[in-house]
Amino acid sequence: MNQSDVLATLAQKEYVGRSFDLLTNIEKESGKKLTASVITFGCQMNARDSEKLAGILAASGFELLEDSEDADFVLYNTCTVRDNANQKLYGHLGEALSRKKKNPGMMIGICGCLPQEPSALEKIKKSYSFVDLIFGTHNLYAFPEYLNRLLSGERHICEITDHADNIVEDLPIIRKYSFKSGVNIMFGCNNFCTYCIVPHVRGRERSRESGDILDEIRALAENGVKEVMLLGQNVNSYGNGIDGEISFPELLKRVCDIDGIERVRFMTSHPKDLSEDLIQTIKSDEKICRHLHLPLQSGSTRVLKEMNRRYTKEQYLDLALRIKDEIPDIALTTDIMVGFPGETAADVDDTIDVIKKVEYDNAFTFIYSKRMGTPAASREDQVPEALVKENFDRVLKCVQESAKKQSLRWQGMVLPALVEETNSSLEGYVTGRLSNNMIVHFPGTPDMIGSIVSVKLEECRGFYYMGSV
Ligand code: 5AD
Ligand code: SF4
Repeated sequence: MNQSDVLATLAQKEYVGRSFDLLTNIEKESGKKLTASVITFGCQMNARDSEKLAGILAASGFELLEDSEDADFVLYNTCTVRDNANQKLYGHLGEALSRKKKNPGMMIGICGCLPQEPSALEKIKKSYSFVDLIFGTHNLYAFPEYLNRLLSGERHICEITDHADNIVEDLPIIRKYSFKSGVNIMFGCNNFCTYCIVPHVRGRERSRESGDILDEIRALAENGVKEVMLLGQNVNSYGNGIDGEISFPELLKRVCDIDGIERVRFMTSHPKDLSEDLIQTIKSDEKICRHLHLPLQSGSTRVLKEMNRRYTKEQYLDLALRIKDEIPDIALTTDIMVGFPGETAADVDDTIDVIKKVEYDNAFTFIYSKRMGTPAASREDQVPEALVKENFDRVLKCVQESAKKQSLRWQGMVLPALVEETNSSLEGYVTGRLSNNMIVHFPGTPDMIGSIVSVKLEECRGFYYMGSV
């Protein structure tokens, strides 16, 4: 942290203390304990941000409710990557208004990616004027200050900036799991894929200093964390922009060296930046999980160029097949988009060709969604809905066939699984995650949660296994 980051951190910690005193007084007057909850939409980054928001709420004295919108303060941590994420939030806000009518003291907040987008922000201010607090992705570190202003009676607080002033470390945090944790290694994205709103709402790429990251992971390990997931929009460009900073493969090695850390994952890798060094690093350290998410988006070189992905179909295929060749037990997953402007049935044939050749273990398939302000949104050759639907169904069918075939390859093996939870629908069973990210259900007891056990994979049921210790 630089000096400005240190000062900003101290100031925010001070606000937490002041909010605690204010909340104590409010509770004395009202005679009840105030509750709060954070409702999270979107990706792993948002999930991690929500742990920080929850930590600040708890340290300020709120009783935290999990996934409940019946709290006295409900904070929506939003996503805007596709329009359906926006629509989902608007649905929740409609319901929040009826709750607020029943509980007039209720406070509602919105943060995350959605308010960073000017037209969405306008809509919230106009159509959902009962929202008390709005702040953006770059202002997350100042949440203690905004909370303090809310508790002092201020309403209609709206704080959005278009860039980050500080990386604030070390604020309170509440982790969802005791044995695994996400760790941000970088924020933002510089890639400007022409369909994507992320660089516009999350800003330019900024890496955290490796010393801070490693300190955080050492502290997590001391607290019983066994698995960490290193988070960034493009982890392969980690360190760019910091003089003398180590590379991503080197960071991975140093994380693996930390006592107590038994598994390391990371997300997401841009294919254009994935180095041979990274492949060799994964191969040589068993602690690095046998799972790589490598977004393809499209298999057509022409479409990829128009998306500004900076690789061709052949380069992607070469990379993916080389990875599978070097590390045969790795599970490869991907993101695929259908309906990018100008996409033809022949382009989709190329995408299907890549799916068949790579044989993904799983894939997230998305219908292209027009995002205001991105270059692709202003193109006139948007693809008719009926053709998108037809192409999407073809891609989905191929992905499902590939996933089904690939999941069978673990049949009968004995593999280590990290036990994550008790199974809510099968009594006497627990659910574990394999290094390759597959899920396995097997007979077990709650005391196994957080431990790594060897499980025999007995029966493949599509995307998961049934097994026994
Ligand atoms: N429309 C549809 N999908 C999108 N993604 C990003 N932007 C869009 C968009 N405008 C998908 C990409 C990315 C994933 C996180 O979301 O496939 O990899
Ligand atoms: Fe969006 Fe492309 Fe950046 Fe991923 S790499 S966040 S798809 S701009």
